[in-house]
Amino acid sequence: MSKSLISTKHLLGIKYINKDDIDLIFRTADNFKEVINRPIKKVPSLRDITIANLFFENSTRTKLSFELAEKRLSADVINFSASSSSVKKGETLLDTVNNILSMKVDMVVMRHPAPGAHHFLAQHIDANIVNAGDGTHEHPTQALLDAFSIREQVGSLSGKKVVIIGDIMHSRVALSNIFCLQKLGAEVKVCGPATLIPKHIGKLGVSVTHNIDEALQWCDIANILRIQLERQDIKFIPSLREYALYYGVNKQRLDKVNKDIIIMHPGPINRGVEISSDVADSDQSIILQQVENGVAVRMAVLYLLAGRAGIKTVN
Ligand code: CP
Repeated sequence: MSKSLISTKHLLGIKYINKDDIDLIFRTADNFKEVINRPIKKVPSLRDITIANLFFENSTRTKLSFELAEKRLSADVINFSASSSSVKKGETLLDTVNNILSMKVDMVVMRHPAPGAHHFLAQHIDANIVNAGDGTHEHPTQALLDAFSIREQVGSLSGKKVVIIGDIMHSRVALSNIFCLQKLGAEVKVCGPATLIPKHIGKLGVSVTHNIDEALQWCDIANILRIQLERQDIKFIPSLREYALYYGVNKQRLDKVNKDIIIMHPGPINRGVEISSDVADSDQSIILQQVENGVAVRMAVLYLLAGRAGIKTVN
């Protein structure tokens, strides 16, 4: 019998959930994807539940996708952006969150620049916490929507070859994807300049190449990441121009590969740097399908965590 309860109260990272949890999230997301493609896209599942979206770092996709997921589930939603808040007057993370929770908030979705901020919060508050990205650590819902999108294209991920290309060192998407893809049985390789690949990444069971053409020839799926200049206080590459020359995925490179690989990118994309427009906008690219699937996947995560916490969901 397939299980219907997720094993965790919070979604702090993919590291802390198991394959059964991921399969359950995907099955639930399948149902919600069907819902959000109906003329009436809303269900009452989280009616009377209040969710706070706390963004201490910029976001377009994740913030709007969570907000839409919450609204499609009929939750009440409040949005907090650190840049226009009393954080600017010196208020701490815990004081900020406790003040928001005292307004009878049930769940917290948070993006924070500090790796581990969500673990810290989980030790101090009762509400469910969903990690919407913590610094260079994890971005679990991105990895879930990425894997869900691959599954939609190829079925089971077991035995599929996925290469993650780019700034692996500073990427929370890379780490969450590695955990998620491996739990689903995929083979993972990382590719990029040596300065942007953590020295001990092999310990996670991934292989490494610095040769983009070899990586593209090897894989079934290429997940391309941007260079995270905002997290680099020293220069890791000589210039973006040189990066584009040696690691940019463009049509010329893809034409040399003797199969149609699936092209992914979590966004935001930097056209002409890590990916060219003719690749980003090609039929091989599923970048916008990833964004579309993010809403259904986040609906599933919120719904399942609410159920696990004993919050009464409406079926
Ligand atoms: N993929 C992603 O996290 O995008 P945003 O930073 O726009 O949320």
